[in-house]
Amino acid sequence: MNVIRLADLIAQGRVAGKRVFIRADLNVPQDAGGRITEDTRIRASVPCIRMALDAGAAVMVTSHLGRPTEGEFKPADTLAPVAARLSELLGREVPLVADWVDGVAVAPGQVVLLENCRVNKGEKKNDPVLARKLAALCDIFVHDAFGTAHRAEASTYGIAQYAPIACAGPLLAAEIDAVTKALANPKRPLIAIVAGSKVSTKLTILQSLATQVDGLIVGGGIANTFMLAAGLPIGNSLAEPDLLDQARSVIASMQARGAAVPIPTDVVVAKAFKADAPATVKAAAEVAADDLILDIGPQTAATLAAQLKSAGTIVWNGPVGVFEFDAFAHGTETIARAIAASPAFSIAGGGDTLAAIAKYGIEGDIGYISTGGGAFLEVLEGKTLPAFRILAQRAAD
Ligand code: 3PG
Repeated sequence: MNVIRLADLIAQGRVAGKRVFIRADLNVPQDAGGRITEDTRIRASVPCIRMALDAGAAVMVTSHLGRPTEGEFKPADTLAPVAARLSELLGREVPLVADWVDGVAVAPGQVVLLENCRVNKGEKKNDPVLARKLAALCDIFVHDAFGTAHRAEASTYGIAQYAPIACAGPLLAAEIDAVTKALANPKRPLIAIVAGSKVSTKLTILQSLATQVDGLIVGGGIANTFMLAAGLPIGNSLAEPDLLDQARSVIASMQARGAAVPIPTDVVVAKAFKADAPATVKAAAEVAADDLILDIGPQTAATLAAQLKSAGTIVWNGPVGVFEFDAFAHGTETIARAIAASPAFSIAGGGDTLAAIAKYGIEGDIGYISTGGGAFLEVLEGKTLPAFRILAQRAAD
């Protein structure tokens, strides 16, 4: 996709002395005491800020945090913990500025963090009056918030319409480059792993991937529905019987292309959904009426791992079992380690997937780890996200 990139503007000498407004996604999880529990998104946002500062810009950064009520700022909505962490990472004080919509004092070489942009009235609905005010704050708008790229809000979309220049920051650019490498022109075989509790929440992703991938590995409750569609017993396991036709049509569409949805041949079952429930490995055809399938079995895991090791490209979204419980983590660990060991270009995204990657310490062995949750899923659905749509439009102006 043709968008202007911040790096290009810098190379052309168009950033020095300019007012640069960076929309980052600094929406990070916090504990009850407001301490940040996971800071990947803040770390991922630092290169863009550094680039703009090093280029001599006056830098404003903002993000949403959570889903606050517009016009009603509450203490829990504050980006103060983010400002503190950003200051540590940048090695310089990052002042937090409140009530900033009508003007921000910042000089070239300085950086300020603008308080939670989702508290501004009109943000969610992309109110043009608010968007024009945001655009008036800057000479260059930089969209670097991939996690928010599927939203069309005033600080992500409207500002990009009205700012004198609108471009992609390095994180946004890297995300789209990675997804393009994985899906638009992949080295084959291309294998996707889509797991999660419900087919219904990922049906469009499954349908879209079924037209592109060479292997579609399903896991979790999604796999249970596919097992049911293949005529296997699943006992008391989580599944969506009303989506059997859709599951069958995904299988048929893969088969018509000479591709496959591998159905588990063995599974790990328990009688209760508990960490200490006794785990039993069973052939898929032998699941009893009171069994719960909580993981793929070792034979299935080994077969899938072998496929992954010879893949050209791997797209991973979702753990294949209840990996939070050690007795049911073997399948996810085997898949994770196979992806890590594979020479394939791999891209992974989604909260549970990132938790699995962290649990097995394989961050350094994944080709690209997306910072997007919902945004990553929408890209897998084949959608053009609003962020890329507007930046491409502005590049064509
Ligand atoms: C996310 O956490 O996925 C992004 O920050 C987007 O947040 P939202 O779903 O509240 O828009």
